[in-house]
Amino acid sequence: METKLVTIDREHLNDEDFKEAAELLRNGELVAFPTETVYGLGGNALDPTASARIYAAKGRPSDNPLIVHICDVKALYDLAEEVPESALKLAEKFWPGPLTMILKKSGLVPKETTGGLNTVAIRMPSDSVAAALIRISGVYIAAPSANASGRPSTTKASHCMEDLGGKIPMVLDGGAVKIGLESTIVDLTGDIPMILRPGYITIEMLRSVLPETEYDPAVLKRERNDNIVAKAPGMKYRHYAPKGNLTIFEGDLDKVCGRVAEEADRAGKEGFVTAVLCSEETRARYARGSFYLISVGTRADEESIAANLFDALRECDHLGAQKIFGESFPAEGVGQAIMNRLMKAAGYQIEQV
Ligand code: TXA
Ligand code: MG
Repeated sequence: METKLVTIDREHLNDEDFKEAAELLRNGELVAFPTETVYGLGGNALDPTASARIYAAKGRPSDNPLIVHICDVKALYDLAEEVPESALKLAEKFWPGPLTMILKKSGLVPKETTGGLNTVAIRMPSDSVAAALIRISGVYIAAPSANASGRPSTTKASHCMEDLGGKIPMVLDGGAVKIGLESTIVDLTGDIPMILRPGYITIEMLRSVLPETEYDPAVLKRERNDNIVAKAPGMKYRHYAPKGNLTIFEGDLDKVCGRVAEEADRAGKEGFVTAVLCSEETRARYARGSFYLISVGTRADEESIAANLFDALRECDHLGAQKIFGESFPAEGVGQAIMNRLMKAAGYQIEQV
């Protein structure tokens, strides 16, 4: 199948530009599209055939449920069996935006979309291209990140083409995404709101509305071999990973840089294609030569690191990196989400320095 790449002019959004994509979605076909977090691989959430196509295109295990994207809060009453007060409060404050809520699903949502669960993940994206696509197609759009299963998420249309080109009929190119990390997921089906996946909306922000919010223990996991079971099925898989072996070093930044440089230099000299993930502030600490140097962003602005992280991991693959050594970042605010993704990408290979 040939994948059509359609460029969307964000400055002049025009219903005409979405016509073909909307038609595809209504016919049960798939379209990759930008959101403010990452690119999504969209299909009609209420059509089991479309969900099956999503799993097939990504090579994703079918027990891993999809997020349903909406453009109007009223959709909650279609998709959820009951809409708790807590959901309305969060929607009021954070939608449209990078927050996904888990609610009990209604009979309208097929089990194929929820990976067999009787709950459903719902998000109203703020990205204008995503919102227009949902509105114009008239379809609730089920969309996982538009990467091949296991690979780093997609933050540019070129990433979608790389992973899904030839497998889906269309990619909408709306440029690089703003945030670069997937939405925060909060489960509202239990006694207290639980964060299943950290993201741009931090625990502090959620607590400003629902003070009792907690992290699911699996989110704070730092060891590969402990036996905490993730409540978001997708969080149990090796994820976001570059092809090479990634190790993260944590501790005093000065010592971390010293250790990363030493390890990378050794691996390079042993003949491994080697890459170092650094930051603007630490770039000068690494002598060029036996390894590639990739800056993820500036420590002065953690959002720049979030925005570039997946692109940097993909860059490691483009360079053919076999060994990758990375600095860690403070796990506060958005840093919690950054470290969550980095640790998963590293398969929890983290060394204390
Ligand atoms: O920012 C995002 O959320 C992006 C964009 C495209 O909106 N989407 C995204 O989808 O990251 P995906 O499929 O890559 O990640 C969805 C996560 C998975 O870990 C999945 O297991 C979890 O959400 N999830 C979905 N439905 C769930 C449910 N009913 N209960 C628990 N976890 C659920
Ligand atoms: Mg994903």
